[in-house]
Amino acid sequence: MNVDVILGLQWGDEGKGKIVDHLAKEYDIVARFQGGPNAGHTLKINNQKFVLHTIPSGIFRPNLINLIGNGVVIDPVTLEKEIAKLDDAGVDYQGRLIVAHKAHLILPTHRYLDAASENAKGKAKIGSTLKGIGPTYMDKTGRNGLRAGDIISPNFEKKYQALKEKHLKLLEQYPPFDFDLEAEEAKWMASLERFKQLPQVNGEYFVNQALDEGKKILAEGAQGSMLDIDYGTYPFVTSSNTITAGVCTGLGISTRKIGEVIGISKAYCTRVGSGPFPTELHDEVGELLRKEGAEFGATTGRPRRCGWVDLPQLKYTIMLNGVSQLVITKIDVLNVFKEIMMATHYSINDEKTDQLPYDMCDEEIELVLESFEGWETSLEGVSDYEELPAQAKAFIKALEEYLEVPVTMVSTGPARQELIQRNIQAEV
Ligand code: GDP
Ligand code: IMO
Ligand code: MG
Repeated sequence: MNVDVILGLQWGDEGKGKIVDHLAKEYDIVARFQGGPNAGHTLKINNQKFVLHTIPSGIFRPNLINLIGNGVVIDPVTLEKEIAKLDDAGVDYQGRLIVAHKAHLILPTHRYLDAASENAKGKAKIGSTLKGIGPTYMDKTGRNGLRAGDIISPNFEKKYQALKEKHLKLLEQYPPFDFDLEAEEAKWMASLERFKQLPQVNGEYFVNQALDEGKKILAEGAQGSMLDIDYGTYPFVTSSNTITAGVCTGLGISTRKIGEVIGISKAYCTRVGSGPFPTELHDEVGELLRKEGAEFGATTGRPRRCGWVDLPQLKYTIMLNGVSQLVITKIDVLNVFKEIMMATHYSINDEKTDQLPYDMCDEEIELVLESFEGWETSLEGVSDYEELPAQAKAFIKALEEYLEVPVTMVSTGPARQELIQRNIQAEV
């Protein structure tokens, strides 16, 4: 058996949570492989909205296991709050929510360091979610981190104190700011008691044994490929590998165990936080996308920047990930538009290209745009691909032709059932 992958092809918030929840029913295990509580994955089930930050989006489907994998960074305080919401909703997660013991822990002082680093950057700030992600991955690669498995070690307290002291020293380098470490630390320690009750596994053996037993695993990405630490719009990125390669390191599987790679893109594009965004619209069209798409961050509530879909950008992330299927989400957001645009190429120094430059921050990128007729009608109740308006089908066909990957699903609203699963074989 192989691990299928779902990941975002843009700058995050493509609707990964909704699609994972939909597909999860066909799997035995859903596993997060990177990122942490910077993620906000929204699910709308029976008119109730849930936002998951650390818990995999398969948790609302009965019976299957949800693994927080080795590559994830965990804040036990956030996780405790998420679990409390599952309790409120009556979700039975006992024995189904498990943690890989090599996943790293986010300390309160990691969050302070995140804030201090952002403040010091002034206008050049990344726009971090301030969840402590960067400093935690820095400690991981710097070989200083605390891992989930350490919480039962007799040396845990000592290790914690040493790391905290190191952080406090580092914080002295920055202009002073207010924080209540004593209170936050008490909360953090208390949350560890809840955390200890979650089963911990050796993630790499767990996943590989499950595959050997013929179990089906779905890996759930967080953030998007343009926020990848290596290939994203550096330095305006997150601190993990968000691309398919991150599944191998994040779960401990061989590259030969990767199956389908399902890439998700909105029918337009958004970004939250700073950094280059070639197709961003600073006008009323961008405003309308934000309004129609309710584009406000699921984790921070910040307004998302909006623009048209960017094909050079998508071609790039499809290449990086080896995408075998495309899912287009939020197509309904375009219902009100008379004209819809797609950037097919960039023009840099008067040269037309469909490749991304070395550093998008340094380049004056002009767009080659193609115009499409809007459908100007609601998609409510459309459940069959053939029932979509001709203009919407033409838009999807153009995406497939440019990107050379089949669109297998189209999402027409936030709710679980607002999804068109395409049967491409039957269409031809
Ligand atoms: P994720 O981080 O990739 O899981 O995405 P987010 O949850 O941060 O953001 C996606 C937002 O769009 C959420 O509010 C979803 O409820 C919503 N959403 C998902 N799919 C659709 C869709 O097809 N149409 C509309 N209108 N909203 C959608
Ligand atoms: P999901 O999984 C959108 C962005 C932040 C910031 C940059 C670095 O919901 O798609 P970090 O906190 O990681 O140091 O922030 O990355 N960012 C996201 N943007 N969706 C996310 O996750 C994001 N996670 C981080 O806004 O620009
Ligand atoms: Mg999100």
